[in-house]
Formats: sequence, structure tokens, C-alpha cells
Amino acid sequence: MNCFVGETERDLAAAVAAWSAGLGARISAAEKAGAIPREVIAELGPLGVLRMSVPEADGGLGASAVAFALVLEELAAAWASLAVGVAVNSGIVIGTIVRNGTVEQRRRWLPQLTDGSGLGAFALSEPTSGSDAASLRAAARRDGDGWVLDGRKQFITNARYAPVAIVFARVGAPDPRKASAGITAFLVPLAAPGVSVGPAERKLGLRASDTSALILDGARVGADAVLGEVGKGFALAMAGLDGGRINIAAQSIGIAKAALRRARSYAKERRQFGRPIADFEGVRFPLAALEAQVDAARLLMLRAAWLRDRGRPFTREAAMAKLYASEMAQRATHAAVQTLGGNGYMREYDVERYARDGRATTIYEGTSEIQRLVIARSLLAA
Ligand code: CAA
Repeated sequence: MNCFVGETERDLAAAVAAWSAGLGARISAAEKAGAIPREVIAELGPLGVLRMSVPEADGGLGASAVAFALVLEELAAAWASLAVGVAVNSGIVIGTIVRNGTVEQRRRWLPQLTDGSGLGAFALSEPTSGSDAASLRAAARRDGDGWVLDGRKQFITNARYAPVAIVFARVGAPDPRKASAGITAFLVPLAAPGVSVGPAERKLGLRASDTSALILDGARVGADAVLGEVGKGFALAMAGLDGGRINIAAQSIGIAKAALRRARSYAKERRQFGRPIADFEGVRFPLAALEAQVDAARLLMLRAAWLRDRGRPFTREAAMAKLYASEMAQRATHAAVQTLGGNGYMREYDVERYARDGRATTIYEGTSEIQRLVIARSLLAA
């Protein structure tokens, strides 16, 4: 892995791994309660994790995409619910503000997204637009100096922790010839009049991570809420997702790594037929094959992040990394459950949580089918 990773990146990842190891029983308590405690998010502020992706000129660490991905991998290996919250905040939300925000927008929002007081949200999906993101229905109209937004955003990670959400809404009537026409990104403070958060979704996994609807009912924001240019929001969302997909690859790898680590230690301890089950090929070969797949996924992730750090195109590579890593995480977590047998199915052992948490990675930030579509378009373009 050293071909892409320097000493600073490794040190940052090791520091986060050490911090995560101390989370202990707080993880199972939070998963049971269905919420990440505010004090855990507060600890991430001084740790520096939340401002890794903010440039030094804006008060951040200016860390590379490679470093951030490796940190997320460690965070996800400990606690996937926290990792997705951080990935959305410090990856897609902060990244989009850093790339497109004015000096004033960066000054206003970046400190609130990095000091541990909350986690930002990215509000693209709606009840009737998921994979077909450009078909969104949320609407924005000018009102005096500012804007009024109406619509319902669905499955919004961090909604109840967010000081601000990047909300995508259409300005003007839909254009049947160009689905993405008019889509505009807005920085919507959650405290703005007309903004409310729906009840938390009840999920298969990632139970401590907040997933809620964001309801815009005549929501009023100022003229300074427009992020980038009016009508140019869809490309901004797509570029944000390109980076986000590297981070979901990192999350998938972290979950898979943790599941396989648990399976290995169990296989060496558990005895059947007079010897450790790790002696049987039925157990050792799947673990060996999956270890190779974890490394393959990490190399795909690092390649995409490395290209991004150099300002080179990485849309296809990010989609490949996300596709492969998230599918690999399904195989790895299920193999871990199988290795632990009956115990793997029980809540006392972490592997059932890894399997449930990992399931989301082939769905959010673009399903596997959407990743294949993105790869195929780039591969087969005229
Ligand atoms: N970067 C910049 N611009 C891009 C782009 C990219 N990667 N991909 C497309 N665009 C631009 C195009 O150039 C085009 O611009 P012009 O009209 O100016 O030429 C415009 O966007 C429209 O592009 P397409 O015609 O390709 O758009 P499409 O409607 O065919 O959709 C899609 C493409 C890939 C299917 C897209 O809709 C998509 O990614 N869907 C999945 C949505 C998704 O990932 N949702 C995740 C929700 S967020 C989430 O999960 C976060 C969380 O909370 C965990």
C-alpha cells in the first residue's frame, strides 16, 4: 500500500484507530438507543477529523483525499454509523462548500461543521427521486432579496445533527429536454423558518446514524444561500458524489476489515473435531480469498483518491472503487457470520452488526447499478 500512502497519512489513520478503540461499549449503547451521542461528535472536533478536508487557508488541516479515506476506513472498522456521518459531513458537504462556496459562505459554515457541534447534511434524494436524481421536485422561487423553498427531502444522513444542509431544488419549470435544468444548490440553515426534520427512519443497520426527512415548507433563506450558480446545482451534486463515493468505498473496506479480523480470531480459538476450525480449508480459504479482495478494494480506493489529490479526473475510478468495495463488503461480512456459525447470528458478537451495517454501502451515494452505469458511460462513450 506504500505506493500511495505517506507517513503523515499513516500517522493520521493510526491516531484515529487509537481513538476509535476507546469507544468500547458506547457503540453498542448508541446502536441500541438509535443515536450517536452528541459528546462523541464533540470529541471529533479537537481530534481534527472533521476539518481534515478543509484547506489550511480556511482553518483546516488540508489533508489529502488519501489521508481522509484511510481515516474513514479506521473509523468504519470501529463504528460504521459514525463513519458515515463523518463521511457525509467532512467529505461531500465540506468538500462541496470548499469547492463552490464564497469566502463568506466558507467563513460562516466551515467552523460549524468542524468544531464538533454538529454534522452537515446533503439533501438530494426525495421520495420520488433516488437513482434518477435529476427528476427532483423540490422547488425554489425568488422572494424579494431571498428565496423560498418547498419540497421534501428523504433519507438525509445527519439531518437532526446538522447546522446546515446543502439542499438541491429546482428554480423555474422543469425542462422536458434537459432533466437537470434549473437545479440549484442552497445552503439551508436548519434553523431557517419553514425547515423541519421528520421522524428518524428505522433501519436494518447503521441504527445510530441519523437518517431523516428534511421538510421545506415555505422555507426562507437569504440571497447568500445559493451555493455556486443558479441552475448549475446538478453538476455540483455529481462532483460531490464523485468524492463521496471514494469515502463510501473506505467505509466498506473498514467494515469488511473489522468483520474478517473478528472471523480470524474466532477461527483460531473455536475448536471442533478436536482442532481449531482455522485448520479446515472450508474456513481458511474463504478468509484468505477475502483478504485479497480487501486489499484489491483498498488499491482501487487509493487510486481514485490519489487521482483526486492531483486534480485529475476520477469519476470512473471512484465509481469502480465504490462498486467493488461495497460488493466485497457483502461477501466479507457474510463470510464472517458464517465463520462464527450460530454465534455469528447472535447480537453478542459484532459480526451481525457488520453484516447489517455493510448492507447500506451498495445502496447509498449511488447504488451498484448506478456505479455500473457511470463506469459503462465512461467506458463506452463515443
Ligand atoms: N461531475 C460533474 N458533472 C457531472 C457529472 C460529474 N461526475 N456527472 C454528470 N455531470 C453533469 C453532466 O455533464 C451534465 O451537465 P450538462 O447538462 O451541463 O451537460 C449533467 O450533469 C447531467 O448529466 P447526466 O445527463 O449524466 O445526468 P443523468 O440524469 O443521466 O444522471 C446519474 C446521471 C449518474 C444517473 C445520476 O443521476 C446519479 O448519480 N444518480 C445517483 C444519485 C445518487 O448517488 N444519490 C445519492 C444520494 S446522496 C447520499 O446517499 C448521501 C448520504 O446521505 C449517505
